[in-house]
Amino acid sequence: MIGLFAVACGGGGPGTPAPTPGDAPMRDEEPLDSTEDEGGEAVPYALPEVWGHAALADRNPDPDVVEVELTAAPMRVRLAEGLEFDMYAYNGQVPGPLIQAKVGDRVIVHFRNELSEPTTVHWHGLRIPDDMDGSPRVQAPVPPGETFVYDFVVPDAGSFWYHPHVRSNEQVEKGLQGPLVVHDPADPEFDAERYLVLDDILVSRDGLVPFLERHPEIVHGRSGNLLLNNGRAEQLSVQVRQGSVERWRVVNTANARTMQLSVTGAVLQVVGTDGGRLATPYRADRLTVPVGQRYDLEIRYTDTGTVSLNSHVLTQNEQREVVELSIPVFEAEVREDAAPPRSIVWPQMPAIDPGTPSQTVTYRLGARQGGPNGLEWTINGEAHPEAPLFSFAQGERVRMVIVNEAGPEHPFHLHGQFFSLAGRPELGLKDTVLVPGLETVEVDAFLDNPGRWMVHCHILEHAELGMMSEIVVEPKPADEG
Ligand code: C2O
Ligand code: CU
Ligand code: CU
Repeated sequence: MIGLFAVACGGGGPGTPAPTPGDAPMRDEEPLDSTEDEGGEAVPYALPEVWGHAALADRNPDPDVVEVELTAAPMRVRLAEGLEFDMYAYNGQVPGPLIQAKVGDRVIVHFRNELSEPTTVHWHGLRIPDDMDGSPRVQAPVPPGETFVYDFVVPDAGSFWYHPHVRSNEQVEKGLQGPLVVHDPADPEFDAERYLVLDDILVSRDGLVPFLERHPEIVHGRSGNLLLNNGRAEQLSVQVRQGSVERWRVVNTANARTMQLSVTGAVLQVVGTDGGRLATPYRADRLTVPVGQRYDLEIRYTDTGTVSLNSHVLTQNEQREVVELSIPVFEAEVREDAAPPRSIVWPQMPAIDPGTPSQTVTYRLGARQGGPNGLEWTINGEAHPEAPLFSFAQGERVRMVIVNEAGPEHPFHLHGQFFSLAGRPELGLKDTVLVPGLETVEVDAFLDNPGRWMVHCHILEHAELGMMSEIVVEPKPADEG
């Protein structure tokens, strides 16, 4: 088992040095024609296999349409030998099955709710129409026993995930979460692709600990005492060949815990973030991954031995001092191989240009006394306000200043759009950014997707206790193109 540990008091992990990206020169966009061979004939693109998850069967013969069935239902889930809990599952799996497509595909999901409570499915990170986004402000939640058809085109390649947006602190913790990959046919081939869905849950011998009953859970969010990697509470391991190169996609699906990750024994480069590939990959020794965020890593097995992905968690020792544990959640045994190391060539892509923001808006993340739990979390002084906070015009570039006025950290998440960190566009497009306690973070948002979009803290307890609001992006009039 990889982690029944005492729950440390307090929020996230220790500070992490900022990654050091290389220079991000402006690059000219090069048209890609890699789907054609020399004779000019189209080579059919086969989606790469993604290790770690059963992919949902595509029922639609059209190569550009992915049509799948997804059902949420209660289930007894086995997380390790002798460790079973009453949870929720999509298609009988925790995490839910892998949904994969290639960029530009139409995805149709026939969803059925077999829970005894309403739910929706939110496609975290996808820039799709707002009535397909699973926001209960736009889509009436699916009642028990009923169905809904999600139907959208996936405009961006990248690593995404899906989860409910109704009572999310309970439904996600109980197991409703799954990986979604949008592949880019122009990407290089790897020796393996893996999607590592990292979670933690709070359990006792009797099952999941009751929700929102403890003060620390209301203040800091629900920190688990059991780490899960792809739904297993035990270390996963594989055998690999020296010289091989893999792509790992990593997502943090926990309710609250910011994951501190390191990889030992291999060369790691960050090649992608929430919004897809980076123009300039960078090396990192440690990654801070707040809930909701994704990282794509290129892992190069240069030496033989054991490579491990470690999750660093704070806990208390017997003297009640806070200490850091390094828990391996995934291991690769590297076998010697004389073959020359693989080289991976990424097609060039242009650097992100955030442009000049047309306006600056401020979100103040705070708290106040009140509500059924005694504490409410607020954005600009309001908990779950009905009216949107801001209204923008489609295509606007907006500087968003996020001020954390309370002690706990808040991973700030915007639906339906991407942003880059102000002054650091080379770190990539993101939909979630960590705002540490009492600090301010600025982002440049690309508001290209019209609709009503949720903005909220991705600590699900904070979101459900008020730190959830909405912005509006008004569609551009048709005559302006
Ligand atoms: Cu993971 Cu409102 O999102
Ligand atoms: Cu989201
Ligand atoms: Cu928060």
